[in-house]
Amino acid sequence: MTSILAPSQKILTPHLEIRGGARLSGEVRVTGAKNSALVLMAASLLSAEPLRLRNVPGLSDIQGMVEILESLGVDSKRGESSVELNGSGLNQSSPPYELVNGLRASFFCIGPLLARLGVARVPLPGGCQIGARPVVEHVKGLKALGAQVTIEHGVVSAVVPGRGHRLTGARIHLDCPSVGATETLMMAAALAEGETIIENAAQEPEVVDLAGLIIAMGGKVRGAGTPSITIVGMERLHGADYMVIPDRIEAGTLLLAGAITRSCLRVTPVIPDHLGAVISKLEEAGCKLEADGIGMTISADRIRAVDLRTQPFPGFPTDLQAPFMSLLATAEGTSVITEAIFENRLQHVAELQRMGAAIRTQGNTAFVEGVPGLSGAPVTGSDLRASAAMVLAGLAAEGVTMVQGLQHLDRGYDNLEGKLNGIGANIQRHGL
Ligand code: UD1
Repeated sequence: MTSILAPSQKILTPHLEIRGGARLSGEVRVTGAKNSALVLMAASLLSAEPLRLRNVPGLSDIQGMVEILESLGVDSKRGESSVELNGSGLNQSSPPYELVNGLRASFFCIGPLLARLGVARVPLPGGCQIGARPVVEHVKGLKALGAQVTIEHGVVSAVVPGRGHRLTGARIHLDCPSVGATETLMMAAALAEGETIIENAAQEPEVVDLAGLIIAMGGKVRGAGTPSITIVGMERLHGADYMVIPDRIEAGTLLLAGAITRSCLRVTPVIPDHLGAVISKLEEAGCKLEADGIGMTISADRIRAVDLRTQPFPGFPTDLQAPFMSLLATAEGTSVITEAIFENRLQHVAELQRMGAAIRTQGNTAFVEGVPGLSGAPVTGSDLRASAAMVLAGLAAEGVTMVQGLQHLDRGYDNLEGKLNGIGANIQRHGL
């Protein structure tokens, strides 16, 4: 497509060019949850029978996970929105660094590899833009299940000693309700001998989705969605055909697109219980939301300031903090936003300021004084959700916003610009 910018304003790196100010209307579809799909794919390592996952989003992270599983001997077949994974050929316990590098979800493989093979060597996922992201809880839990774990030269090596090389159920208390640690330990415990109880477990919907899959594969899990999860280990799990839950973060982003453009639109499918804290905050800000059993309609006119603090589920999700800040940058009054999950997740503030937002930060708190209008500018998304925040700000801004950092956006949003254009936005992608 042709750019509407003068040659002097052009940028060469891949970017979205957003002409702001359009009202949105109609209906927009949410795809399957990235964070669920990634862990469910890793769960294919738990069985020697085929696992078919439906409602899998088309994302670069999903492709990355397919490649990692293939490197371990898993056979894969990709359909339009499905993926079939057959773990019967599993013959490697160590995914190569070059595939793992950059895909944090690769660390999910350690639990099922250890459970099925009794040995796993997985490179440390490392930190990322938003924080250090330790795996201490994952490692502590695997040790409690009987694994010997060492970390050397950036690689976590784990082995289950003894003749059967089988993990043993245990009571594990997590120091913090880590989503990744809960999921890793659930997968490991699914093939362990005896019962495992995970206390102070994460309660996120993706944890419940994983429990649903393990049960569909013949496993026994109780309590997922509460702070105490019990898993009874099985000798083997069978194949399954399983539907991934809708992506609550994508749904939240699309509802925010309606709010920031002061529009009325329907987002579907939405499971309201997955977005309770977000829906409350949108309502407190003055939006009207109506659930109809499948989707949710949002209508927005005037937006008031609200305060929010990120928390583990069912609290306000850290993954929607940046997108919500874009909305509050346009609200009447001053909002106070505190990021309490990740230590470095306010990098979008500087980019929003470039668009005319009035935001001041102190530590991990942002004071967002709403302005009557944002103005288009070249901006860069520093991580996945920050990129989405830039797209939202661009929808509301006067003039043209160029969003760079698409490698982040494409990791987690399946055709975001296509979906937004389908409901009236004006976004063009430039560069490969
Ligand atoms: C998952 C999500 C991510 C989301 C995050 C928090 C996936 C693939 N990613 O990431 O999108 O932003 O949950 O909802 O599902 N922590 C420790 N020690 C540990 C592990 C974690 O202190 O051993 C801390 C982290 O530093 C962070 C907090 O716990 O402050 C939450 O991290 P965690 O729940 O583990 O996030 P992820 O599973 O990595």
